[in-house]
Amino acid sequence: MSNTIVVGAQWGDEGKGKIVDYLTENTDVVVRAAGGNNAGHTVINNGTKYILHLIPSGILWEGKVCVIGNGVVMDPLGLIEEMNKLRAQGVKITPENLLISETAHLVMPYHRGLDQAREAKRGDKKIGTTGRGIGPAYADKVERGGLRTILLKQPEVFAAELRERIDLHNETLRAAGVAEVPAEETVVRMLEAARILAPHITNTAVYCHEAIRAGKNLLFEGAQGTYLDIDHGTYPFVTSSNTTSGGACTGSGVPPRMIDKVVAVAKAYTTRVGSGPFVTENENIGDMLHNMGREFGATTGRARRCGWLDAVLVRYAVMINGADELAITNLDGLDGLDTVQICTAYTLRGETLNHPPSTAADLEACEPVYETHQGWRQDLSGIKNFADLPPLAKAYLKRVEELTGARVSLLGVGPSRDQTLVA
Ligand code: GDP
Ligand code: IMO
Ligand code: MG
Repeated sequence: MSNTIVVGAQWGDEGKGKIVDYLTENTDVVVRAAGGNNAGHTVINNGTKYILHLIPSGILWEGKVCVIGNGVVMDPLGLIEEMNKLRAQGVKITPENLLISETAHLVMPYHRGLDQAREAKRGDKKIGTTGRGIGPAYADKVERGGLRTILLKQPEVFAAELRERIDLHNETLRAAGVAEVPAEETVVRMLEAARILAPHITNTAVYCHEAIRAGKNLLFEGAQGTYLDIDHGTYPFVTSSNTTSGGACTGSGVPPRMIDKVVAVAKAYTTRVGSGPFVTENENIGDMLHNMGREFGATTGRARRCGWLDAVLVRYAVMINGADELAITNLDGLDGLDTVQICTAYTLRGETLNHPPSTAADLEACEPVYETHQGWRQDLSGIKNFADLPPLAKAYLKRVEELTGARVSLLGVGPSRDQTLVA
């Protein structure tokens, strides 16, 4: 038995979906424990591209069970759309292989409206959210006014509670000049969604514990990344959940003592979508990657901001998540460069910092301290064994290990399942 948490070590989109897909082969149960359909996880296998938002990437493997845990905020219409798209690609989804926690909170259409209204009000201080209603749904949860998934199994109670919430939130939407949610039409659509999803809804904490007792392996698929964590991220330019390893426990009901390993996923460079500080941002790298057709968001299609690898961030993420291992993805993105830079420290008002400062304003004011490495200038995408990597690429990875304090255990040299190397 071995239970592993996979988390993002940067600002999301590190390639968690691909790494989870790779690790699922030796896993029985794959659990999502935080976030919602703000996530977009890309998996490419045998030339087919799958994009997952709420459903764990493990669904692409036959015979594995996937769990949407209590820490997730679940948009029923979004989930049904995702199920339909995956089924059209030949993926089997049944109440036996996709379980949804009874206590996960629901994302309702008014949450999307509120997300939009709050972003508009922030003006040029906007967070650049995915517009999926995530912040308002978590706000309702914490404020103790949320609706939980178990209601989908109690249609009459659900309809009554939903009408009440629509009334309440429509007042705010009206005041903000945003379109109100039509009450009866929404209730009808949600009751239909409830009928479809109800067979999947269960006590997933009990399921996970039974699976552990039966000697099964669990894999926790992180969503977003360490610097989007509501506590540890670049607040307020963050998402509204705990995206770090602790969130996997609270978001599933599986306690910390049952976790055996944490794998942090990081790109060989850095990307970010949405607003907020980004010390190593570099337009030339962005242009290079975008010209290669890479680094466009899987959920919103937005071009991602790009820059050099920031080892200060990854080192701190290794600490916060208790990561034993690093999975470095997209090393092939740096293939064409004569020189490759790594940010090893920051300077802020004349002082050298080895970990990120605690405010977004201070992080914005930090200057990167770079060290320069010679590029390997070789196409890595066809390499099948770690040992066959060019020495300069190995040296780069060795330096990443030294700077971050975690061992590189997996390496991505292309987007496909078979472009993953074991170090
Ligand atoms: P996630 O949200 O962490 O699952 O990451 P995304 O799927 O949003 O973004 C990662 C992007 O990088 C996707 O387009 C993946 O197909 C791609 N990707 C992942 N690993 C590699 C890699 O090693 N090389 C290349 N070229 N692409 C990769
Ligand atoms: P995956 O799981 C990258 C970002 C948004 C925005 C901020 C808040 O694919 O790595 P939200 O809609 O959550 O309120 O937006 O968080 N964001 C992500 N960025 N990858 C993600 O997920 C993200 N999920 C949210 O762009 O800056
Ligand atoms: Mg993503």
